[in-house]
Amino acid sequence: MFIFVGVALLLHLSSLIMAEVEWGTFRPHSLISVRATAPHSPYFGFAYHAADSLDIRHVTNDHQNAIESFSWSRHDGRTFGDQQIRDVGLNLLVKSSFFKHPTHKGACALRVTAEAIDKSRPIKPISLVFYAVAAPEELDPRTNGVVEEDKAEWGSVGFGRLSHLSDEGLRDDVRIFGNANSVGGRYSILLKEPSLGSLSANSFSAPSKTVHAGGASGSRSLIRTRSEKPPDPPSFLSNFHISSSVAQPQSAWAIEKILPKVLARRSLTTDGTKSMYVLDDSIKETSPGAFVQRILQAPFEIDAGFVLREARDDKTVSDIEKEITGENLTSHLENYREVFDNKFENVYKLRKKGLSEKEQAFAKAALSNVLGGIGYFFGSSLVKASAETNGQSQEDIIMLQPISLFTATPSRVVFPRGFLWDEGFHQLIVQSWDPALSKKCLLSWMKVGQDNGWIPREQVLGIEARNRFPEHVKHLMIQDPTVANPPTILMPLYTLLSSNVNFTKEYRTDEKDIDDDEGYLNLQEFSKSILSPSIRYYSWLKSTQSGHVPDSFRWRGRSNDVLSPEGYPLTLASGLDDYPRTLVPKSEETHVDLHSWMAWASWALSRMSLSAGDNTSAKEFLTEHHKLRSRLIEIHGKVGETGDDHLDYLMCDHDGMDKDCHIGYPTILPMLLGLLDPGDKRVGAILHSLQEPSLLRTRAGVRSLSKSDEWHRKGNDYWTGSVWMPFNYLVLAALRQKYAVQDGPYRFQAENLYDELKQAVLQNAFNVYTQTGHLWENYSPDDDGHGKSGRQFTGWSALVLLIYADMFNLVVS
Ligand SMILES: *[C@@H]1O[C@H](CO)[C@@H](O)[C@H](O)[C@H]1NC(C)=O
Ligand SMILES: *[C@@H]1O[C@H](CO)[C@@H](O)[C@H](O)[C@H]1NC(C)=O
Ligand SMILES: *[C@@H]1O[C@H](CO)[C@@H](O)[C@H](O)[C@H]1NC(C)=O
Repeated sequence: MFIFVGVALLLHLSSLIMAEVEWGTFRPHSLISVRATAPHSPYFGFAYHAADSLDIRHVTNDHQNAIESFSWSRHDGRTFGDQQIRDVGLNLLVKSSFFKHPTHKGACALRVTAEAIDKSRPIKPISLVFYAVAAPEELDPRTNGVVEEDKAEWGSVGFGRLSHLSDEGLRDDVRIFGNANSVGGRYSILLKEPSLGSLSANSFSAPSKTVHAGGASGSRSLIRTRSEKPPDPPSFLSNFHISSSVAQPQSAWAIEKILPKVLARRSLTTDGTKSMYVLDDSIKETSPGAFVQRILQAPFEIDAGFVLREARDDKTVSDIEKEITGENLTSHLENYREVFDNKFENVYKLRKKGLSEKEQAFAKAALSNVLGGIGYFFGSSLVKASAETNGQSQEDIIMLQPISLFTATPSRVVFPRGFLWDEGFHQLIVQSWDPALSKKCLLSWMKVGQDNGWIPREQVLGIEARNRFPEHVKHLMIQDPTVANPPTILMPLYTLLSSNVNFTKEYRTDEKDIDDDEGYLNLQEFSKSILSPSIRYYSWLKSTQSGHVPDSFRWRGRSNDVLSPEGYPLTLASGLDDYPRTLVPKSEETHVDLHSWMAWASWALSRMSLSAGDNTSAKEFLTEHHKLRSRLIEIHGKVGETGDDHLDYLMCDHDGMDKDCHIGYPTILPMLLGLLDPGDKRVGAILHSLQEPSLLRTRAGVRSLSKSDEWHRKGNDYWTGSVWMPFNYLVLAALRQKYAVQDGPYRFQAENLYDELKQAVLQNAFNVYTQTGHLWENYSPDDDGHGKSGRQFTGWSALVLLIYADMFNLVVS
């Protein structure tokens, strides 16, 4: 009796875990990898290298000169994705596909294929290495060590008993076995004998004599050659080789560093002139990781299938493996591609709008890279804390409680982490495709908010994220609880609640994939759950970022210690780092962009309160909004003096004594967020600057700082002129939703600008993508509008998709 109770409880527990756990490509920094949305999830995936070298390709910034680009051509954010990696260094086009079983939770597959980019050039044999590691994601903050009690959570990975293992390797399919409580228990991973590309004695130009070791093909024969004469090279090359990881659990994720330790150089020719790196075929009983290697000649194809054993219902593991690998995988992938393409057209209607196939492919890649850039992280933020000890003030770094974050990321290469203000734009894209997926990310962000409302702006969570943080800016890892970031996260929260997106099954790739907790959105229930953290966040901003006069605002964190090359202080909090502000930071200064964000946020919160059925808050926020809107003009509106409307009606920062006027993103923001009335002369002045090439207009779009400004392209040439997609999106949204549709003296001017600007922004981003294969962090304001700063920047630059589709829905009406 007891035994039954115990078993039932265990089953219940693992099914509870499994209900929450999703498997996906949630390690955006790795080229080909999968993990689950659970702390301490095992990771698995592929790394590769030329078999005669140790230049290992594992994460997206390995061998950047050799890897020209990597991009998801399709990714639905949940069940399926197709990625292409152009490795010009190896003349290799690697394609990887992710597939999740539609009904069987905890079963998914990776397929890797490769072919020559230039078929007329030779390609070296490739060592493709599959890895599975049981990595703990957070060290114990007190001991800086692995928490032993958590060992069952992060589990172990191995090969089981392999009596027949020798340095001849393994013939036929190989299985890895693992166990991790965090994801629901025992699992197995099948590495299938490659259907294409396997090296054989014939395909490889080496000595002709071959030893036929072992029995009939198809059986895992016992091969013992150690005691005999050394094996002839080609035969071991046509087998799998394996090894257990030699790493400590806390560094098991660093595949590119561990792998060289278990790869041994083996000679292929009797004279030793030719050799390759082969796994050492040694295994340990318990280990945090397992490797399986196959040396292949392109074109090749190999499948790996993951099955969570506890979740297999009445099917056998091998039945499920058959469903997710081989021919079945081929037909699943074909089917999913078609479903994706149909849904893409249903949602964005780009074919109907007359876009070319190439433009549609560009827009698909923009969406897919946002979805394929979604990551799951678990760990602690490092935070600056001022502690009073014995009456003396001292600065300390503390670790917050470990927490999980499910988030999109700005760039898989340079910023594979959560960024608060980028995420506000990312989620506009995610929710256009899959509102329930966006809801999941947004709820996760609300949970990383602290009790006082503060949300740390850069989320560096877990050992891997901390260790991969760029060395030269390591100080930015420490979050400061007095420093803010624009509250853009309220944009997707607001649009999700007020939008006209249809929250029905139509939007899903596969109906069967709906779980109860995130299938249909109960909007009122969702509004209620996010309303109070959103209000807390707003109140935190208001109390910590207020200015010296009532209802004004000032970005904190400006100091004479963090300067541009010319020596003026940066304003990292604003998100517009090197945009010129008051040259000497003062407590009397106030900032027009922060004021605008706050005026917008109070309006959004009023609408969100209504959705949640809280009419009292709705009314209060509306009153607040009207007050902030009129104070915006009083504090930041320039008072006309010259008689030239274009100069007299600017919006400016205020340094405490005078207006501090530059023309650029902060000063046009009042219009971008819809805070100015259509008849306001300030709208005329801003429209003029948006059209005028000597001010903000460029062939790539609207630049961040006027060309006529003394600091244009100074600072770090970052936000001092470069063209950024999120602000161009906001300009277009404001025109499309308000200034080009509501009556007023500037309506026709706004209509024309909308058409021209939309055309220019899309044309430039598309041209640069066609030439370089990338979306970029920003675009040059001069000459050819080329991509600048980070390449492969598929976070908010992917807003091109929403611009193509005319999806704008966040402006104060
Ligand atoms: C495909 O999957 C089905 C079960 O859905 C299985 O019966 C069949 O053997 C599989 N085909 C191959 C080629 O593995
Ligand atoms: C949403 O989609 C469903 C199913 O296709 C349809 O019946 C319904 O009318 C749609 N609602 C709106 C508001 O478009
Ligand atoms: C709240 O306001 C809405 C719209 O103004 C109204 O329809 C609703 O009845 C109000 N609810 C309550 C509880 O007063």
